[in-house]
Amino acid sequence: MTNKIRKAVIPVAGLGTRFLPATKAQPKEMLTLVDKPVIQYIVEEAVAAGIEQIIFITSQTKRAIEDHFDRNFELEYNLAKKNKLADLEEVKKISQLADFIYIRQEAPLGLGHAIASAAPIIDNEPFAVFLGDDIVDGSTPAIQELIDLYQQYNKPVIAVKEVSPELVFKYGIIDGTPLNEKCYQINTLVEKPAVNKAPSNLAIIGRYILTPEIMEILKNTPANIDGEIQLTDALLEYIKTKEIYATKFSGQHFDCGNKLDFMKAAVYYASKHPEIREEFKKFIDTL
Ligand code: G1P
Repeated sequence: MTNKIRKAVIPVAGLGTRFLPATKAQPKEMLTLVDKPVIQYIVEEAVAAGIEQIIFITSQTKRAIEDHFDRNFELEYNLAKKNKLADLEEVKKISQLADFIYIRQEAPLGLGHAIASAAPIIDNEPFAVFLGDDIVDGSTPAIQELIDLYQQYNKPVIAVKEVSPELVFKYGIIDGTPLNEKCYQINTLVEKPAVNKAPSNLAIIGRYILTPEIMEILKNTPANIDGEIQLTDALLEYIKTKEIYATKFSGQHFDCGNKLDFMKAAVYYASKHPEIREEFKKFIDTL
């Protein structure tokens, strides 16, 4: 089995009800931070780490994502005619970022089910998983930090971050034996525990390197009481026989699945954007 990570699975079938009414007629993944949709930041992180194939697990309300990563000949023609060459380049390069594959999730049966839907394309290779809400900006792509650890052990790796105890109920939480100041060998994982049941405050963030054995386990993982097949439950099954590692990452993380973090991300990217940053900072100072 190769240990190069060439493929990434990005589940995008979820409804995005936390952002209504903005997501009434558009996917939450297409909400923009300055001038780029959230999903493009994530795809660019994957590509920066050498990933060549992006497998979106999608649903019928997410067609805008397919259009975004496809060519738009009419737009390209018009930009060329008006000599807007920088915009033309920007638009054309999106479809060239990677090979894009779309798989419809048959039913909304949870993250584990979404990932299992990619099994025929994953075949017998290790692969990355990116969750569409989590954006990480750093000089090294966060997924690269996971790939480096994967290539050391040839075992699954999960991104983790310390969160305050009152937030553990929102995340998968791990207990791990530290290997150094940022890496752990995982002893156990629990999905969204109550604060008094959490084994630590190390929360799973939406970046994983998984091995193809997880697909077999997912097929046999029962749904939880909400009818969802949890990836965390499959990983818990996996560690009964083999190790899983976790690593903290060095970039700045935003959970774009909640409004406050989404707005923090918008301000963060606006403060870095060459076209608007000067004026934007002046404006922020006036608030
Ligand atoms: C999922 C995972 C959870 C993880 C979280 C990170 O939950 O199940 O373990 O901590 O993503 O964003 P979700 O946020 O999809 O409910």
